[in-house]
Amino acid sequence: MSQPTIESILQENRLFPPPSDFAENAMIGSMEKYKEIYDKAKADPEGFWAELAESELDWFEKWDRVLDWQPPHAKWFVNGKINISYNCLDRHLTTWRKNKAALIWEGEPGDSRTLTYAQLHREVCQMANVFKQLGVKKGDIVGIYMPMIPEAAIAMLACARIGAPHSVIFGGFSAEALRTRLVDAEAKLVVTADGGFRKDKTIPLKAAVDEALQDNHAPSVENVLVVQRTQEKVQMEPGRDHWWHDLQAGASADCPAEPMDSEDMLFILYTSGTTGKPKGVVHTTGGYNLYTHVTSKWTFDLKDTDVYWCTADVGWITGHSYIVYGPLSNGATSLMYEGVPRPANPGCLWDVVEKYGVTIFYTAPTAIRAFIKLGEHLPKARDLSSLRLLGTVGEPINPEAWMWYHKVIGGERCPIIDTWWQTETGGFMLTPLPGATPTKPGSATLPFPGIITEVVDLEGKPVKANSGGYLVVKHPWPSMMRTVYGDDDRFRRTYWEHISPQGDQHFYFAGDGARQDSDGYFWVMGRVDDVMNVSGHRLGTMEVESALVSHPAVAEAAVVGRPDEVKGEDVYAFITLEGEYDASEALENDLKQHVVKEIGAIARPAAIQFTDSLPKTRSGKIMRRLLRNLAAGQEVAGDTSTLEDRSVLDKLRSGA
Ligand code: PRX
Repeated sequence: MSQPTIESILQENRLFPPPSDFAENAMIGSMEKYKEIYDKAKADPEGFWAELAESELDWFEKWDRVLDWQPPHAKWFVNGKINISYNCLDRHLTTWRKNKAALIWEGEPGDSRTLTYAQLHREVCQMANVFKQLGVKKGDIVGIYMPMIPEAAIAMLACARIGAPHSVIFGGFSAEALRTRLVDAEAKLVVTADGGFRKDKTIPLKAAVDEALQDNHAPSVENVLVVQRTQEKVQMEPGRDHWWHDLQAGASADCPAEPMDSEDMLFILYTSGTTGKPKGVVHTTGGYNLYTHVTSKWTFDLKDTDVYWCTADVGWITGHSYIVYGPLSNGATSLMYEGVPRPANPGCLWDVVEKYGVTIFYTAPTAIRAFIKLGEHLPKARDLSSLRLLGTVGEPINPEAWMWYHKVIGGERCPIIDTWWQTETGGFMLTPLPGATPTKPGSATLPFPGIITEVVDLEGKPVKANSGGYLVVKHPWPSMMRTVYGDDDRFRRTYWEHISPQGDQHFYFAGDGARQDSDGYFWVMGRVDDVMNVSGHRLGTMEVESALVSHPAVAEAAVVGRPDEVKGEDVYAFITLEGEYDASEALENDLKQHVVKEIGAIARPAAIQFTDSLPKTRSGKIMRRLLRNLAAGQEVAGDTSTLEDRSVLDKLRSGA
């Protein structure tokens, strides 16, 4: 199976209208309705968002102004006072949803737990009080380094409740990656667990926190709160480390939500860019609450009877927006799963669908391709008839995988929403609305109401239908990132200066290439910068290169993404060694392990090629484009006239 190519996509002309029974019961049940809403939002974006903010969310104080736009800085619902934890919890307690399941959790060794809205509210309030007791104040940043357990969501909501921005760090990141993120954010408290279950192993999270903090290497951290999950023995440093259950036992469940300014920071989430240093994407409160709420409601067509399951990890934006905040703000039932398929239980995801009668299932193309490999007998042996809607996110989906998802998982009756968005956008930007938009396999279709996207050239001029260009967003939207934490200049440079502004029109540049077909549908082709997409995880080539060159044997490293059937891309590294080192298998393994230590297992190079020299331009820039071709085993395409030494290519081709 292959990744989508421009040719295959241009030939893709299958069209799947929403099934009529789905459309009849949907919130937005026709293209006419979508167009009506879209046009209304386009004509008066501020009026559109204000009306929704008024009707969908609870505010402590109303805003004075909907939008203050000083490109590239936006403020939404200026001077409005709101708390997202209140909108996700308290307001449901006065309705019948009080005893509705908010979170259903299925844990790895067969554990499970359901928290109703009332129970979740209680635990969030207790933790918020614990955080306060540990000295966390409004504005202090809390690092969350957790497995996929309800306490991760509880910790996030507890932070939001007292106005302490969280910085969730994916539990698969290494101690070193954790440390750099804690230092950058000057986190005061770290919430973690003794460990997490992953396949047949346990991941020692607390030990990684200890390593990150040792020798005062993250001096801002005053306390560590530890959830007991695996029961494995961990070191507890007196005065610094505390057990979650101990402090919870003595904590009051009374903790009113702090009225936050709409523009107060809700969280930082680090993501990879084109430099070695991940950037802290900053999201604020009111606009993010509104946008994740409305996109969850309309795109998932959420009903009170739904059991909604997003398979992402809470350590990524998908987990933030579409496991925790969006669904809970709507009073939905959100399922969290700690497991992954492994040889002993390859059909475990379908068991979960059957066990809980999941109605909406949202996952990534890389997972779908892995399901295909595992075989369709696994889903076929389970009852998946509860499913009514399927979703995908994280990378372009190849039409073959889309069709398999449609037939084998969706039984040809479930619409598929292919949602294109990013850590930076906070919520869905391009997506079908399942009762309205006819879908095409491989296309994220059309923008969500209120979003204006276009495919342009570097001058900001729209390109013709079916030609490639840069995907941009032309009007601010409520959940757009506000800045890069501590580096506003990087925010400007990365997102707002690539495409020349046209008069007072500023373009948000997403980093993706795309084309629009003659029906106006968008086809996202993937990153056009030095960012890789490995199993739907975003990784900077420079980030992996920096990790490699920090090894004493490495003189120079160039990293590229190589197409992979299941992962989309894997990490391929070209390395030149320092004089006193020789290439060997042992060194190759050592370097792979070094990357795991510096970043985490997701960045482990699949292949390392040792070489005497790397292809460079006369000005000394590594020509990654050529290396991408070489890694993929393709002919070197395009212009090579700027290459300084042409013999380098032949040597690399012959593996030297
Ligand atoms: O390249 C696009 C790809 O994922 C990038 C964003 O990665 P991240 O911030 O980690 O967020 C992932 C989850 C929202 C984008 O720049 N991407 C995401 N969704 C799609 C996609 N590419 C094509 N189609 C999608 N549906």
